[in-house]
Amino acid sequence: VSAELFHDVEEMREMLARVRRMGATIGLVPTMGALHEGHGRLIDAARRETDCVVVSIFVNPIQFDRPDDFDRYPRTLDVDKKFCGDRGADLIFAPSAAEMYPAPQRTFVDVTRISERLCGESRPGHFRGVATVVLKLFNILQPDRAFFGEKDAQQLAVIRRMVRDLNLPVEIAPVATVRDSDGLALSSRNKHLSADERRIAPILFQALLVAQGLIATGSTDPAEVKSAASAILAQQPAARVDYLEVVDPEEMQPVDRISGPVRVAAAIWLGSTRLIDNMLCEPGPAEGTTLIQ
Ligand code: PAF
Repeated sequence: VSAELFHDVEEMREMLARVRRMGATIGLVPTMGALHEGHGRLIDAARRETDCVVVSIFVNPIQFDRPDDFDRYPRTLDVDKKFCGDRGADLIFAPSAAEMYPAPQRTFVDVTRISERLCGESRPGHFRGVATVVLKLFNILQPDRAFFGEKDAQQLAVIRRMVRDLNLPVEIAPVATVRDSDGLALSSRNKHLSADERRIAPILFQALLVAQGLIATGSTDPAEVKSAASAILAQQPAARVDYLEVVDPEEMQPVDRISGPVRVAAAIWLGSTRLIDNMLCEPGPAEGTTLIQ
């Protein structure tokens, strides 16, 4: 089976208008290509929950804060097309930059506060670029439901809030992070890691696991959690920490005290590659608490 490929906004719209007239629901999996099993799970979820699955593939220039990151972002459309077909996606929307931005973009979506910390601080303008292109994709494709990976938890929080604040008629469906057997979260950027860096990379997952364990066993102090996770990362001096934070899952703001579910989120540099990961952590019983059986 192959997925039908569209480069043109108008042709894509006409096709989807026909799909809608047949009464079928549309699921969107927005991607930048270089598809891996993580995207595969997004497509699987979309297939389960909607009738017609559209995968968008667009390396969005306005969300890159570093030109070298944009230039070396992997572009593998032929392989991606086969991946989408094998996985059972129906349609692919892969516009050129000129098709998406025929004139200089003057209108942007800025989801305040939620965009400010973590990746927003390290990558100025990134979430403005993400929110803007995702709104454009929603307007072009008008999906009933759109699927996003939890690996990009802040992106997910930004999109959810944009949908709520702007009354967009789309449901946002989160999909769990997919990991290699050593815990490294799948990412298109993993392709850039050298063999040595790849060996070190799971340290990020291990640090998050330690944080999760501490919170589950009653630690309520973010400083304590952060210092335990930092100590793990420090075991690998080649891993340079960009940020490590304990935030509330909706507003993505650092918390003073852990009294409900939090996200522990981190970014590290390995050479010239930046990796991010996060874990939802549920507080467990404080030490010394007696549970009535
Ligand atoms: O997560 C991504 O791949 C991108 O940020 C997205 C959502 C496709 C927007 O360009």
